[in-house]
Amino acid sequence: MSKNSLMSKTLAAVFAILTLSVIGSLVTMVIVYNIQLQKLKPTPPPTAPVTTLAPPPEMRLREDVLPRSYQVFIHIPLYTRIIEEVNVTSPNQTFLFDGNVTVHLECVQKTKTIFLHSRNQNVFKPMVHDLNSNKQLEVRNHILHDDQSEFLEIILNDALEVGGNYSLFLAFKGEISDSLHGLFLSSYQEGTPAHEEDTNVYRYMVATNMQPTDTRKVFPCFDEPAMKARFNLTIIHRRDTTALSNQDVADDEWQYTRFQPTEVMSPYLFAFTVSEFKHMLSIAFLQTYARPEAVDAGHTAYADSITGNILHFYQNYFDIRYTQKLDQIAMPDLAPLGMENWGLVTYQEWALLYEEGVSSHLHKEMIASLIAHELAHQWFGNMVTMKWWNELWLNEGFANYMSYLAVDKVAPAFKMSDKFIANELHSAFEADALTSSHPLTLPAAEVQTPDEIMEMFDRITYSKGAVVLKMLADVLGESVFQKGIKIYLERFRLKNTDQYDLWDSESGGFVDVKTLMDTWTNQIGYPVITINTNSGEVYQKQFLLNDTSESKVKSGSGQSALEWILFEKGEWILANVNCTGYYRVNYDLTNWQRLLNEIETNPGGIPLLNRGQLIDDAFNLARAQLVSVSLALNSTRFLSNETEYIPWQFAEKNLDYFVLMFDRSEVYGPMQKYLQNQVTALYNYYKNYTDNSTVPPDPTSHSQILAVKLACSNGLHECVNMAKSMFKLWMTNNTNRIHPNLRSVIYCQALAAGGLEEWEFAWDRFQNTSDISEKDHLREALACTKKIWLLNRYLDYTLNPDKIRLMDVSSVITSIAYNEAGHALAWNFIRANWNYISKLYAGEVITEITQRFSTPFELQELERFSTTYDLGYLSRVVQRAIEQTKVNIQWVKENRETVLNWFLAEIS
Ligand SMILES: *[C@@H]1O[C@H](CO)[C@@H](O)[C@H](O)[C@H]1NC(C)=O
Ligand SMILES: *[C@@H]1O[C@H](CO)[C@@H](O)[C@H](O)[C@H]1NC(C)=O
Ligand SMILES: *[C@@H]1O[C@H](CO)[C@@H](O)[C@H](O)[C@H]1NC(C)=O
Ligand SMILES: *[C@@H]1O[C@H](CO)[C@@H](O)[C@H](O)[C@H]1NC(C)=O
Ligand SMILES: *[C@@H]1O[C@H](CO)[C@@H](O)[C@H](O)[C@H]1NC(C)=O
Ligand SMILES: *[C@@H]1O[C@H](CO)[C@@H](O)[C@H](O)[C@H]1NC(C)=O
Ligand SMILES: *[C@@H]1O[C@H](CO)[C@@H](O)[C@H](O)[C@H]1NC(C)=O
Ligand SMILES: *[C@@H]1O[C@H](CO)[C@@H](O)[C@H](O)[C@H]1NC(C)=O
Ligand SMILES: [Zn+2]
Repeated sequence: MSKNSLMSKTLAAVFAILTLSVIGSLVTMVIVYNIQLQKLKPTPPPTAPVTTLAPPPEMRLREDVLPRSYQVFIHIPLYTRIIEEVNVTSPNQTFLFDGNVTVHLECVQKTKTIFLHSRNQNVFKPMVHDLNSNKQLEVRNHILHDDQSEFLEIILNDALEVGGNYSLFLAFKGEISDSLHGLFLSSYQEGTPAHEEDTNVYRYMVATNMQPTDTRKVFPCFDEPAMKARFNLTIIHRRDTTALSNQDVADDEWQYTRFQPTEVMSPYLFAFTVSEFKHMLSIAFLQTYARPEAVDAGHTAYADSITGNILHFYQNYFDIRYTQKLDQIAMPDLAPLGMENWGLVTYQEWALLYEEGVSSHLHKEMIASLIAHELAHQWFGNMVTMKWWNELWLNEGFANYMSYLAVDKVAPAFKMSDKFIANELHSAFEADALTSSHPLTLPAAEVQTPDEIMEMFDRITYSKGAVVLKMLADVLGESVFQKGIKIYLERFRLKNTDQYDLWDSESGGFVDVKTLMDTWTNQIGYPVITINTNSGEVYQKQFLLNDTSESKVKSGSGQSALEWILFEKGEWILANVNCTGYYRVNYDLTNWQRLLNEIETNPGGIPLLNRGQLIDDAFNLARAQLVSVSLALNSTRFLSNETEYIPWQFAEKNLDYFVLMFDRSEVYGPMQKYLQNQVTALYNYYKNYTDNSTVPPDPTSHSQILAVKLACSNGLHECVNMAKSMFKLWMTNNTNRIHPNLRSVIYCQALAAGGLEEWEFAWDRFQNTSDISEKDHLREALACTKKIWLLNRYLDYTLNPDKIRLMDVSSVITSIAYNEAGHALAWNFIRANWNYISKLYAGEVITEITQRFSTPFELQELERFSTTYDLGYLSRVVQRAIEQTKVNIQWVKENRETVLNWFLAEIS
């Protein structure tokens, strides 16, 4: 796997030089189109490098037989509850399942072998029928390949003939997984146990999570996204679980639930659940399922109310109706936040259930965005699917991009379009500034094994994918873009695509979309534009945090440089107004200082998004040593008079890097003092609301939460006291008067300032509340204590699924690692328990723990980790962490003195 990252590194170096001019003219185009200066003709860019044609990959199915439809029987003998009563022998729970599958195949190339996928199963009784002659063909053998191909090979005596229709029958037996992959087991409590040892409240359910390559663990199938087929499913499950509680020996009665055939679809979208869940009566084809308790308490109401609106928005936008039923289900366990299975979208409970008065507004916004993301997939991904996982961004980038449009439309109060910059652009910028980044579209040959496929689910795919699409929409104009999307969806309905199909559909206008987009999708990185206002020169080069390359390509000078300028007032200029481009901007020092002067004296003179982006650019340019770190720090001065969220959010994200680098050093004291000064005005702005545990009328403003967070964590006494006393009040009179929006931040700050008593109280509440959002606030807050022994015990709890659910393990470890008191503990912990942790989507854990690494010793440990542990799909993540650590070490070495002196000067 590391071969891949090395590969892309060498390529990157070559491409950087070859393609700078391409990027240059591209940016010119973007800017020029924006300001409609069509008179300026951009020089035609050279053709993009040709993606090398992959050799026939060994891990891919041969396309000699194609599945047309499946009939799947799955028999699941699991009991959803085990009732133990006196005098009654309770049944033994069973975690096995079995079934059979019949696939109808069309032969397109003569062959004596059929390749499909199967994993972790016993497969037997293979039978092949010729459907035309109704004759049985003799199967000589079947072989399960015990390697990463996960092939099941069926060998026949006689060849299948081109044009023939065949059916392949296989019986299988497997075990329900306990690690959230494939067909997995989940358990939860319904009600409160009367006694500690009372097991009657435990409920079991099974559900599936297939993406990307786990359908093969449930039944043998042609498990590739382009192998679309119809699925006919029958589940055989226990008839009536209440019969069990009545001790009825009728527990051998089975219920057959037969489902209508699906649309033609990719195997990874296959899904089912067997549970006791129920739904509210709502629109017949739109249902939200959850634990009966949660449904009765009305926690599905918000999802119910918003889903229809989102669906409606998409139907209009895409001009294609959604024709089947849509169930959404809130699951106690699920590895991803949500999964877009066609017609049965699964969510983590927390990501779908909303309780009025207990959940925060932030939470509501998250639910809306996530539903919008998953519903967008019903078109992008489900109806039209990428040909192969190397272009996963066609699914995920799109769903991400569309979710902002949809939520903006159905819940404008969330102001989602403003958040795009901070959420997606920032995240993409960050991931894409390292040489170990990867292009949006990788060569298919580099994405073959299940691990390599898993690696594609990263920030580049999600965030850069969305940013690049937004940029295209900005260049073409939103309505032209939308028209192209309609054409694309209609043209490739129920089919598979690659990026060129999209560019073709978008090329109705006058722009050569393919040329425009190739550089953004086939190469890593993004440019930084340098504007020199003295000489009028403009340069651009690839932006890298480790900036050693000297190559600078001049793309304009003198007169033409003026065309770059979008905003000019008096003496300064500002480029990339409203941050529509995927690039950073650097200026000569004089212009920087004039901009910063403007922003301090007349903040309204700079557009809001740019007030944030200037900070972000300054800090990142400083990290790449293109400007001095004191310039970056100077860009935070104006915050003492800023109450808008976006500039603060950018400042917080960027200063977070300083926190991570310095919170274990002498720099931290002066830095905290400075930040305390800066945030005081913001804190006071909300003080009346906060002290009374209320929120301002515009509830979506996250500034108040950020104000409390920054004020308390930088030691503003009145903030810490406020948090402590609010929490104390809850502990003493047992009613929680803290506003839902503020709970997460106040719990955390109170626990950080408190000790064992506060921690035990929070832990007790955490275990006993049935409210998902409350649980979530508490789970995070428990990681905020500064007491090392409490953090250590909390880490141990993550090994016990009865204490911390499997799907929450990585978030608990991540929160502990973020706390400087817990960082070293967490790093030791994941290495000591790697077998357990690595199964649990541990990518974020690694990223989070290692982002603080900034010493040669830590680098050494990380390198040892990368060579001695079995990293599987995480190897690219670790490779990236190593590069990041090297960058950190150098940065700290070079900037520590300056930073310390800057903060000391500011506070004196
Ligand atoms: C699935 O159902 C459809 C519609 O009833 C039918 O045409 C098809 O043959 C079935 N597929 C299999 C493999 O039985
Ligand atoms: C259990 O069985 C015993 C003897 O067979 C009987 O006396 C007792 O009432 C039973 N208890 C219940 C709860 O049925
Ligand atoms: C449960 O399993 C045990 C041991 O395998 C067996 O003795 C017992 O009869 C089983 N109980 C039921 C209800 O099947
Ligand atoms: C497949 O499984 C179903 C359900 O258990 C069963 O009714 C059917 O007979 C099986 N088919 C074959 C060919 O064994
Ligand atoms: C930037 O955004 C603001 C607020 O949305 C808008 O009023 C302004 O016209 C935009 N400016 C440009 C140049 O797009
Ligand atoms: C930062 O601000 C200070 C004080 O205004 C100024 O002296 C210094 O030159 C600035 N640094 C840079 C790099 O602009
Ligand atoms: C903060 O901004 C307001 C409004 O722009 C202005 O009236 C005030 O003087 C500024 N305060 C400081 C300390 O710069
Ligand atoms: C930066 O890149 C150069 C060459 O690509 C490499 O030799 C050096 O080790 C890197 N430095 C850091 C801090 O990663
Ligand atoms: Zn998605």
